[in-house]
Amino acid sequence: VVDIREVTEVDEAVVAAIARLLPQLSSSAPPPTAQTVAEMIASPAIRLLVAEDPHLGIVGTLTLAVFRIPSGIRAWIEDVITDEAARGRGIGEALSRRAIELAGEEGARTVDLTSRPSREAANRLYRRIGFELRETNVYRYSLDD
Ligand SMILES: CC(C)(COP(=O)(O)OP(=O)(O)OC[C@H]1O[C@@H](n2cnc3c(N)ncnc32)[C@H](O)[C@@H]1OP(=O)(O)O)[C@@H](O)C(=O)NCCC(=O)NCCS
Repeated sequence: VVDIREVTEVDEAVVAAIARLLPQLSSSAPPPTAQTVAEMIASPAIRLLVAEDPHLGIVGTLTLAVFRIPSGIRAWIEDVITDEAARGRGIGEALSRRAIELAGEEGARTVDLTSRPSREAANRLYRRIGFELRETNVYRYSLDD
């Protein structure tokens, strides 16, 4: 059974774990540094969660953003990753459920996320725990190319 906890202090184990997990989600994202992790946890809108296995150490992560906008308090789930060696044990589900719980405690009206259709395990997981597909267009403006 893994322990889901919120990271409130930067330490080497957390930075190393995120650096190991991130390439399993994105091949282009630069690895985090102690500085970038510190910036995340210093932000009042950001909750960085990790899943810790008693033998394997940190095997998963999720980042929750909760913020107020004119229409209410909203929440987004981002960067959900379970280590390849630990998948299929409900870790992604446990991280997501904890994030939903935290968002609810902060008064969020909704929790949003996006996931490419090709991410089959992720899409199955989100639907299984109650996320519903929205009829909306997801846009992105890229500033870095
Ligand atoms: C999506 C992801 C976080 C799920 O993590 P997880 O800890 O395996 O999640 P769970 O165990 O709660 O559920 C995983 C689902 O995928 C299935 N699955 C996918 N790959 C699996 C594997 N290698 N072994 C076992 N089960 C797997 C599980 O059966 C389960 O679905 P089901 O119970 O409906 O059959 C993980 O697959 C991952 O990190 N993928 C790469 C990054 C990614 O796509 N992140 C999501 C971005 S939106």
